[in-house]
Amino acid sequence: MILKPSARAAAVAPFLVMDMLREAATLRAGGEDIVHMEAGQPSGPPPRLVVEAAQRALATDKIGYTESKGLPALRERIAKHYAETYNVTVDPAQVVVTTGSSGSFVLAFLAAFDAGDQVALTSPGYPAYRNIFNALGIEIANIATNATDRWAPTVAAVRELVDGQGLDGLLVASPANPTGTMLKPDTLAALALASAQQGIWFISDEIYHGLDYAVPKATALSTNHDAIVINSFSKYYCMTGWRIGWMIVPPSLMRTAEILAQSLYISAPTLSQYAAIAAFDATEELEQRKAQYAENRAFLLDALPGVGIDEFSPVDGAFYIYADVGRFTNDSFAFAQRMLKEIGVATTPGADFDTERGHRYLRLSFAGSRGEMEQAISRLKIWLK
Ligand SMILES: Cc1ncc(COP(=O)(O)O)c(C=O)c1O
Repeated sequence: MILKPSARAAAVAPFLVMDMLREAATLRAGGEDIVHMEAGQPSGPPPRLVVEAAQRALATDKIGYTESKGLPALRERIAKHYAETYNVTVDPAQVVVTTGSSGSFVLAFLAAFDAGDQVALTSPGYPAYRNIFNALGIEIANIATNATDRWAPTVAAVRELVDGQGLDGLLVASPANPTGTMLKPDTLAALALASAQQGIWFISDEIYHGLDYAVPKATALSTNHDAIVINSFSKYYCMTGWRIGWMIVPPSLMRTAEILAQSLYISAPTLSQYAAIAAFDATEELEQRKAQYAENRAFLLDALPGVGIDEFSPVDGAFYIYADVGRFTNDSFAFAQRMLKEIGVATTPGADFDTERGHRYLRLSFAGSRGEMEQAISRLKIWLK
């Protein structure tokens, strides 16, 4: 007899970007010259101060467990970050340090929702939200978005959903993955307030904060003190593999989140926690990285139309371009695979982010080097001619 996975697990879709990442890595290991535009991760190392802090911790600490919500020194530093960056007061007791922001999603969703609850989110969007909701038996309500609105949820569309019946939560991301779209501060405030007025959870994924090029960043905590705010050291701080992130929860969830963390993962990686404290002091180095992404962004926005890829939203933040490649294909998964095999340019098919319309979209990450961006354009120019 073959034992089967649970129906809940079977309902979880594969995360195609991770499959593309594996294929691209296999080709590279076989000696192929691959341009990586699939991965949503900085190409450079973590800041020097972070590495030094990790080395110091290795030399002086036994690297045991920490308390489940994280090292007090890190939680204090994160709370200070909110005061410095957004002028918002956060009690260190509200900070929960997790294994990447991915760990925060599981904790937050378990802490706030029961199976059968309904949460609204946009499509296209980051696939793990949907996959984790499916795994936990939480229902999803789609917020209609379209390319002409830069894929951003409009206040009217959200109000209609929120004021209707039965919603238990609303989740937004700004800057968003895969579109790079940011909500203007007053739009974010309106959505956060609508949720507060209706008495439903507002979850704000702020993991790409720091990587903004056109719109100022704002935190949901400025308008909704009960918001659950999720952030990470992966993107701006260049620490993807250190698996460290955090969330800010309202006092009513502090103990619940702690209890769940105790049993789900005990504590986030201790070495990474020590290192992360130093990340807040590495602004000079991190701003140089950001300047490199900004240059890549400007280069691609200018060069892509020249190779026939000319329909994409404006990229306010993060490091992605979500491009309509419908003129070349109706199956962007097959298209991305051919592109990888034939010219060694790895991208992510849109189906990861939007199961209905994603088949004509590709996500291109510009977190790599300028040389990689130039390579991609010169290969695409010949391939798409
Ligand atoms: C919008 C968004 N949220 C969360 C994550 C998860 O990142 P991590 O678990 O490394 O913090 C990602 C990763 O790409 C993302 O794009």
